[in-house]
Amino acid sequence: MKTMQEENYSMGFESVWKNARIATARPSDSDCIDIIPDGTVGVVGGKIVWVGPTNDLPEKMLKATTRVHDCRGSLMTPGLVDCHTHLVFGGNRSKEFESRLRGKTYEQIATSGGGITSTMDATRSTSDEELEHKTWQRVLSLVAKGVTTIEIKSGYGMNLEHELRLLEVINRVAERVPVSIVKTLLGLHALPQDYSKKREQYVKEICEELLPIAVSKGLVDMVDAFCESIAFSRKECSQLFKKAQALGVPVKLHADQLSDGGGATLAAEFSALSADHLEYTSEEGVRAMAQSGTVAVLLPGSFYYLNEERVPPVQKFRRFGVPMALATDANPGSSPVFSMQSAMNMGCLLFGLTPQEAFIGATRNAAMALGMEEQVGTLEIGKYADMVLWDLDDPGELAYWVGVDSCEQVIARGNRIDLTVPSR
Ligand code: NIG
Ligand code: FE
Repeated sequence: MKTMQEENYSMGFESVWKNARIATARPSDSDCIDIIPDGTVGVVGGKIVWVGPTNDLPEKMLKATTRVHDCRGSLMTPGLVDCHTHLVFGGNRSKEFESRLRGKTYEQIATSGGGITSTMDATRSTSDEELEHKTWQRVLSLVAKGVTTIEIKSGYGMNLEHELRLLEVINRVAERVPVSIVKTLLGLHALPQDYSKKREQYVKEICEELLPIAVSKGLVDMVDAFCESIAFSRKECSQLFKKAQALGVPVKLHADQLSDGGGATLAAEFSALSADHLEYTSEEGVRAMAQSGTVAVLLPGSFYYLNEERVPPVQKFRRFGVPMALATDANPGSSPVFSMQSAMNMGCLLFGLTPQEAFIGATRNAAMALGMEEQVGTLEIGKYADMVLWDLDDPGELAYWVGVDSCEQVIARGNRIDLTVPSR
């Protein structure tokens, strides 16, 4: 590593971040997280071209670099990856929160016209400008807490016109923020009331019209669906997945959240990048995911927020070698949670992950859940220089503190991010 870099970068780097305690998140032989106690990262073209102990960095390379940042011993990790969010929505569901506190269930609210479809109404009546501004604010709120890659789903438009509108909002935000945004078409989320007697027609319109148009406009990186008794069946989701596959778009699935609907197996059949939620996934589902290399994205925020009791089969994921990722599932209904640290804490306390698993789940495995393992998720040569400096000693502390603001600096593609929210 060192010799190659010496040859190529004897002219120095564009920038150097030195004297950091680096948790690279790269695979290691032991259960422990790999730490470089006094490390340096060298950046060229927004990518990492050198990473290692500061002492191994040739003095001449340091001298030839103009932007040298002294990290003064702070902990450096890869930028966190939030691989499952629903950030584009209008309104909020605080009234629904109150009804749930009075005893109504999420399913009862959903089947009586509330839930996702109420956010659909609020979203449809919010202007493009307002949606864009809110989405931007939400992105920056995650970034301020150390996130540099965010997946954002559409899903509250729920017809051709409005889903395209939401995808366009996501694409515009993606162009303006300095972090990486992955754009997902959540094609089958809930059935709008005006289609209650036209289910088949709805699924057909999403598969045959919305998806091909969104793909041809270049608005979509991946496709998702909600496979659940209150949402869409395996058969309906597989219709969408077949079309996505024919168009060459990778898929992921909201699977087995409230019941075992065979969602994990369906995701595996289509070699989905990830299956998400998974509270009710059977051993058969876990085995299928292991075979297809599908990542298990755990969403403890929605488990917590919906007062669920059944936890995902974490022990089985470990046994069969299914990589586990964590995400916020940030959305107004089941998880108004906008902090990866909170998701990591809940992943440990509610689902039994170790703090080390939570750290890898929020970095390396989350990158894999987005098919971005070559670009982000670890601090290794060739990846984006997406790094976070923390006022912490150990990456396990990310899951330990609750509500502590320990993020010192967020760096994306080698540039320190300005966290000011733009005015309207
Ligand atoms: O991931 N499960 C489906 N979709 C979201 C919930 C959306 C909502 O309730 O508004 C989720 O939990
Ligand atoms: Fe979700």
